Amino acid sequence: MRSARRVAAAVVGVAAVLTATACGSSDDGGDASGTATVEVFTWWADGGEKAGLDGLVSQFAKDCAGQAFENGAVAGGAGANAKRVLAARLQQGDPPDTFQAHAGAELLDYIHAGQLVDVSADYDGWGLKQAFPPGLIDNLTVDGKIYSVPSSIHRANVIWTNKTVLADAGVTGTPADLAAFIADLDKVRASGIKAPLAVGRDWTQLMLLESVLITDLGAEKFTGLWDGGTDWDDAGVTKSIDDFKRLLAYANTDRDARDWTDAEKLVIDGKAAYQLMGDWEAADLDAKGVTDYGWFTFPGNGATFQWLADSFVLPKGATNVDGAKCWLKTVGSAAGQKAFNTRKGSIPARTDATPADYPPYQQAAMEDWKAGTQAPSCAHGSACSQGWQRAANSALGAFSTDQDANALQKTLVAAAQQFVMK
Ligand code: GAL
Repeated sequence: MRSARRVAAAVVGVAAVLTATACGSSDDGGDASGTATVEVFTWWADGGEKAGLDGLVSQFAKDCAGQAFENGAVAGGAGANAKRVLAARLQQGDPPDTFQAHAGAELLDYIHAGQLVDVSADYDGWGLKQAFPPGLIDNLTVDGKIYSVPSSIHRANVIWTNKTVLADAGVTGTPADLAAFIADLDKVRASGIKAPLAVGRDWTQLMLLESVLITDLGAEKFTGLWDGGTDWDDAGVTKSIDDFKRLLAYANTDRDARDWTDAEKLVIDGKAAYQLMGDWEAADLDAKGVTDYGWFTFPGNGATFQWLADSFVLPKGATNVDGAKCWLKTVGSAAGQKAFNTRKGSIPARTDATPADYPPYQQAAMEDWKAGTQAPSCAHGSACSQGWQRAANSALGAFSTDQDANALQKTLVAAAQQFVMK
């Protein structure tokens, strides 16, 4: 494996790595036929995530003659495993040719660590400044430079449902607020489903808490939690943690051992009625042939579109710079965004997409994105740094067992003090 070769190179010392780096695009992992390989590092290993990646790979094959895709995916939702592996590789001077990173605070971590190459000149060459909305370009620009090419915009605050389970329980209509949602959870439970709300491990619990915070605080105050404008010891946060705890009482108790797809399976199998999850779930359900599903925005979130954006970067020290740039060009192109987003549940970051090309869920999401209020996500890096995200995930993991609301709020207050503005 090429990455094993690179690890071996890394351990012989920095000088050797620098030499390999200096070779740049000539040491491109090519094979005897003259084809160069581009190692693309993601956490999109299965289901709808892999379907999206496959779409991008077929476009890359058309656009980038002489370059072959090498799959560096490390499975695990939200990059729970991939980010650890990536951090170790970057530390060892063994970067993939390109990797997936969330736009926003998560990307800033890599930029501030000096791990990424400025690709603003390529933005001009590829016409990307006109293709992406000005707000997104502003968000991506750091000291006048741009370091990533966004592939997609996902929405985090969506509840996915099993329609048959709901019909059997006599639940009709969409709950407008938390009280109505809890009444529906009670109805489903009364129909014999013990744990109607499917929940997975720590980061999926953080997503659920974030949705509750949006309901209880409103989008603006919620956004303030991440930029210092709202205190984490606010009474609204106390209420949210209480509401979150009430919701967890309807969830499967084995949640900490389940990735998001394992929790999703409870909904697919009719063992649960609901799951709060990002809209990659639409693509995953489609990829698994599930048709009996519905969705609604988390009750009480109104028109808030909790966004996150996947993007790809050129790491410093990438072996195949030309190939990586061709990957980035494909990611940013109209054809690449269509090939990817139609299969990934996300909407394109570009403004020139044709909604009719997309499945019904994404068509609705495109409308909501335009009309809604935007709020970022910590679980998926648009709101908080990776250190803050790890602290929040670990606090949620502890709460899942100890259910100590006071301790959870204190830990979240301390995390904000440590990480805000850094
Ligand atoms: C997010 C990522 C999505 C999706 C999800 C579940 O962090 O942005 O594209 O892959 O994780 O793994």
